[in-house]
Amino acid sequence: MSGMLLIVYHSQSGASFRLAAAARRGALREPDTALCWRRAWDAGIDELVACDGLLLVAAENSASLAGAMKDFLDRCFYPAQPYQFNKPYGLVVSCGNDGRNTDQQVQRIMRGLPMKLVAEPLVLRGEPNRAMESACEELGQALAAGLAMGIY
Ligand SMILES: Cc1cc2nc3c(=O)[nH]c(=O)nc-3n(C[C@H](O)[C@H](O)[C@H](O)COP(=O)(O)O)c2cc1C
Repeated sequence: MSGMLLIVYHSQSGASFRLAAAARRGALREPDTALCWRRAWDAGIDELVACDGLLLVAAENSASLAGAMKDFLDRCFYPAQPYQFNKPYGLVVSCGNDGRNTDQQVQRIMRGLPMKLVAEPLVLRGEPNRAMESACEELGQALAAGLAMGIY
């Protein structure tokens, strides 16, 4: 194993969960990268310290990041400051018809942690379909492969 990818997700209806599960399938295709898979409610600074890269998967709710994912990031902010991580991360936003605020909001929060965006965020509108799941699989695999190769 040459690195560990942490996937943190939050889902109410199951939509974000399906996308996160697809990203997990993709990441598991890279045997050299370990995987840690957590609900946002169950993740915290320990997981952030232990990982080498991060993928966040959550919905837009009321024009902002779903509360549980925001809570995870808020809980990590102060404990993360001494580390100045700058670890690579990716983002998947599940949403009805917008998602732009959440994309911007997450990028702003992550700059402050700080963490480094290394892939184009996926803002996926509507009920998850095969194409969206494939895009998430590719992203999960790409992050895991990048960690294995040490390109970040
Ligand atoms: C309370 C609530 C607020 C929402 N607000 C937005 C919104 O502002 N913009 C948007 O594009 N979708 C919005 N949606 C739609 C969700 O983002 C979308 O259904 C998403 O796939 C839900 O994923 P999840 O159920 O896995 O968390 C909202 C859904 C809920 C339940």
